[in-house]
Amino acid sequence: MESGSFSRRMSVRLTPRIASRPRVSVRRKSWVAPRPSISDLVVAFCLASLVLVVGCIAYLYVLQYFDSENSVAGLIGDANVCNVFDGRWVPDSSYPLYNSSECPFAERGFNCLANGRKDIDYLKWRWQPRQCNVPKFNVHDILERLRGKRVVFVGDSMSRTQWESLICMLMTGVQDPKTVYEVNSNQISKTIRFLGVQFQSFNLSIEFFRSVFLVQQGLPPRHGPKRVRTALQLDKMDDISRKWVDSDVLIFNSGHWWTSSKLFDMGCYFQIGGTLKLGMSINSAFRVALNTWASWVETMVDTNRTHVFFRTYEPSHWSGSNEKVCEVTQQPLSEAEVNDKSEFADIIAEVVERMTVPIAVLNVTSMGAFRSDAHIGTWSHPSTIVDCSHWCLPGVPDAWNELVFSCLLKKGWRKLEK
Ligand SMILES: *[C@@H]1O[C@H](CO)[C@@H](O)[C@H](O)[C@H]1NC(C)=O
Ligand SMILES: *[C@@H]1O[C@H](CO)[C@@H](O)[C@H](O)[C@H]1NC(C)=O
Ligand SMILES: *[C@@H]1O[C@H](CO)[C@@H](O)[C@H](O)[C@H]1NC(C)=O
Ligand SMILES: *[C@@H]1O[C@H](CO)[C@@H](O)[C@H](O)[C@H]1NC(C)=O
Repeated sequence: MESGSFSRRMSVRLTPRIASRPRVSVRRKSWVAPRPSISDLVVAFCLASLVLVVGCIAYLYVLQYFDSENSVAGLIGDANVCNVFDGRWVPDSSYPLYNSSECPFAERGFNCLANGRKDIDYLKWRWQPRQCNVPKFNVHDILERLRGKRVVFVGDSMSRTQWESLICMLMTGVQDPKTVYEVNSNQISKTIRFLGVQFQSFNLSIEFFRSVFLVQQGLPPRHGPKRVRTALQLDKMDDISRKWVDSDVLIFNSGHWWTSSKLFDMGCYFQIGGTLKLGMSINSAFRVALNTWASWVETMVDTNRTHVFFRTYEPSHWSGSNEKVCEVTQQPLSEAEVNDKSEFADIIAEVVERMTVPIAVLNVTSMGAFRSDAHIGTWSHPSTIVDCSHWCLPGVPDAWNELVFSCLLKKGWRKLEK
């Protein structure tokens, strides 16, 4: 595909040159016409050929330069047609992009190698879209582009993983690891609401805000049924949302906590305005909350500055009759099985489509569905946990970050710099 579009582009650009060639030789012929000598003609012909050859080489050189610029500046291939989320995983021995044991921000629970995983094939896969290429993650180029910027991840533990992944990817380009630190000297934990890592030499901040529902959870209205212990206010954004606005890249996810075991079983019900909505389905509530998020983005975020992404649900690979068996494979699946919550992806797509500002949906659900080999399994910390939901680091979240940067580069990210 991409070689086809390359040669198409080349022939289109070369055509005017070839067409102009006869005109030059015609003029030259009439110029030498008064005294036609064989040696003059030979010299003229040789000179003309030389000029043409040198010209062509210079032209191809310039073209190649522009093309390699293009491949840095965005997706290779026809960017308007290419769906980067439609593709497959291909083996690539240049991966992984970092070593989690050398990255202080990869939490122990995600560092499968350190937790005893022996097979390493799972580290050596690259996401290959069907119709274009993702530019290779060039850490020095990306760090320069990120200078002075603020990147904010908001969501659940899947967002925290992506946050850790990005920090580890970027740290491979930093000479002194001590210049990268958490601003409050906090340790990474599951329940912490804010983690901010500063890359001092780049004045770059990579932050994570834990907000698993994006909307505000609080006490229910008085005189409600006893089983209602907390209420999710579907029409009100999380209180900490005011800290997300002043950012350059803003990446959301939500979905994994929208289950009856994490809501109703915990005594958490939905509320709109002052009214409990006891019979409301989880899907309807998710849609209302996403619409609240959408109007918040439209009114509060300056999308001329802030690039907003929403990442879709992560597929898990639990098996067995009760979905409690976790068997991590050594190779990815050849067919993606998207079993869970694909309706959430549809709701996200519908809500985003109606928004008045540009939002990029990171539709990574089917991408992860292939990766039954990339979960934490029993290589967890503490080791009593068995986990077929989260991913090892390095791993799948690195590919999400590569896609974030290819989207940013494609949108002419550099132009937004002040
Ligand atoms: C997400 O991507 C997959 C694979 O390309 C596609 O089948 C699915 O329709 C997409 N979903 C949305 C909501 O765009
Ligand atoms: C990762 O780094 C650790 C600590 O420096 C080292 O012991 C280990 O061999 C490295 N692993 C790989 C796969 O390079
Ligand atoms: C660091 O970046 C912030 C924006 O994130 C900017 O306001 C500030 O002036 C920068 N500081 C330096 C020293 O460049
Ligand atoms: C964003 O840019 C557009 C077009 O340049 C402009 O019309 C609009 O006012 C800008 N919005 C903000 C919030 O600056």
